[in-house]
Amino acid sequence: MGIRIKGTGRYVPEKILNNADLEKMVDTSDEWIVTRTGIKERHIAADNETTSDMATKAALAALENAGITADQLDFIIVSTVTPDHAFPCTAALVQKKIGAGQCPCFDQEAACSGLLYAFNTAYALMSSPLAYKRVLVIGAEKMTSLVDWSDRSTCVLFGDAAAAFVLENDGDPETGDFYVAGELGADGNWSDILQVPGGGSANPPTHQTVDDKLHFLKMGGPKTFHMAVLSMTNACRAVLEKSGKTIDDIAWAIPHQANRRIIDAVAERIGCPEKVYLNVDRYGNTSSASIGICLDELNRSGNLKRGDLILTASFGAGLTWASMLIRW
Ligand code: UT7
Repeated sequence: MGIRIKGTGRYVPEKILNNADLEKMVDTSDEWIVTRTGIKERHIAADNETTSDMATKAALAALENAGITADQLDFIIVSTVTPDHAFPCTAALVQKKIGAGQCPCFDQEAACSGLLYAFNTAYALMSSPLAYKRVLVIGAEKMTSLVDWSDRSTCVLFGDAAAAFVLENDGDPETGDFYVAGELGADGNWSDILQVPGGGSANPPTHQTVDDKLHFLKMGGPKTFHMAVLSMTNACRAVLEKSGKTIDDIAWAIPHQANRRIIDAVAERIGCPEKVYLNVDRYGNTSSASIGICLDELNRSGNLKRGDLILTASFGAGLTWASMLIRW
């Protein structure tokens, strides 16, 4: 096999909401947000801009970067917690918008860990007897559709974005797969510390659920922080052990961009602060798009060399976590 990341793409909405703007909306300050999270600004989708719109723009950029056309795709996976609709899947809407014919597609939901879960799924689909040759993997989120703009403990954290990847099996064993090692985990016992309580089958939408703001995301911040550091650190260590690599072999470390302090704590524990890629200051937490945006920025700025090892790690609602060692 020779399953590689052939192309990358990203899209971030034009509108920027900075900390000064938030100071006018809730009782917060630029100083608090920067000190506690490292976030300075985030991008906000337009009211009529959907997750599939953003995913489509990222996908077209990735296809161009890969040098292939949409009709050459064999499968599409979209990772999102903010689908356009409960159904049809957002992946089907992207398939239509990019003109990918009738290739199979579905959405995968593992919150902020979703992109790494989707990479694992795609790799399994490509390396199994199913042998799909070209798979489009997208992480796309309109997180601001879940944000309560009167809740200062969450509204300062999130932004909207999409990132897309064309994975291709060129059939050449000399190429080396992009997938070196992975570690996925989840613990449903912690499902209530980060959730959207209303709008699903547990609490179908009613006037009451809307009045009670149950359709907005709720988070136990400090507990989530603690679990994020613990699970991402352990997952990174597991991946290094599985692959027989050490932190010295790593060119870049890309942690999920939720909070600068979480990133620093994980980097400190695994011993690679100087190798960490950061953009949380510019985008905030874009959930399953976050690691993808980092990878695309690194790729397009010429900072990735063939064969570079990239250690990624993520954490999100579920609770879910993931780490993956990627060969460029
Ligand atoms: O994407 C995956 C999941 N998400 C995460 O990984 C996020 C994890 N959690 C965090 O990043 C942090 O817990 C937060 C950034 C959400 C909060 O930071 P913290 O240092 O854990 O603060 P806290 O929740 O313990 O709150 C400290 C104080 C409280 O005031 P009192 O009770 O000490 O008077 C809050 O009410 O800060 C207050 N506070 C704020 N003050 C100004 C909370 N939000 C704000 C705000 N501006 N935006």
